[in-house]
Amino acid sequence: MATDDKHSLITENGIPRHIAIIMDGNGRWAEKRFMPRAFGHQAGVKAVRKIVEHCAELGVEVLTLFAFSSENWHRPKEEVSLLMSLFVETLQREIDTLDKNGICVRFIGDRSAFPVVLQEKILEGEAQTKDNKALTLVIAANYGGHWDMCQAVQRVVDKMTIGELSKQPISPGLIKEHLSTADLPDPDFFIRTGGEERVSNFLLWQLAYTELYFTTTLWPDFDQNSLDDAINSFKSRQRRFGHTGEQILNKTALL
Ligand code: FPP
Repeated sequence: MATDDKHSLITENGIPRHIAIIMDGNGRWAEKRFMPRAFGHQAGVKAVRKIVEHCAELGVEVLTLFAFSSENWHRPKEEVSLLMSLFVETLQREIDTLDKNGICVRFIGDRSAFPVVLQEKILEGEAQTKDNKALTLVIAANYGGHWDMCQAVQRVVDKMTIGELSKQPISPGLIKEHLSTADLPDPDFFIRTGGEERVSNFLLWQLAYTELYFTTTLWPDFDQNSLDDAINSFKSRQRRFGHTGEQILNKTALL
């Protein structure tokens, strides 16, 4: 499991420690092939496998994938139901391989709205892989950045009410400790495929200093080379966290 720092630091070779991805474009990928959207989501799962493997090879510590947003319930009933089945099948089929490869799988989001069978698979998968250290794969499902901040504040208030936490001013540190990603470094790098250039209620708090990357490549076409291209863009950037470029170059910034 990755440890926390004030600001997440990139690894020695310039690879981001934590990459967060909005996997967009499955539907359009299928439509271009005159196929149903379901076909695009199935192809999307294949892309997930490739990207997880490649992240592990590169030494990425945390990969967070936006699989289902709080707003995705508005999709046609059939598509929502297909996505639920796909999550169950994928977990069932892939969990042993993920485990063998040292990948720790965990879910963030309000899982209570999911079918019971999916909630069980999630719990089993998390329990089976919890001690793995090679890569933490975080699946954001029924997740929203607003939801995450609200549940964090609610937990702080509840703890203060019962005296588990002393009354104190709300600070960024206190909020962070109660987010669903409390024990993880914030993402260094955010990727969105599919051509839209927005954050869509993904890790809103956690993306404060994250480098953003948008590509028109549709998610099922996003492969190892696409990830390498994205990471090369990341490597060319200077992260300043509010300091001047000179402070960063002279290493006088207190990060
Ligand atoms: C967005 O494409 C994609 C989704 C809402 C679902 C993503 C889910 C997967 C790739 C399956 C992942 C499974 C696991 C277990 C991690 P879209 O449908 O919005 O595409 P469009 O913008 O072209 O319509």
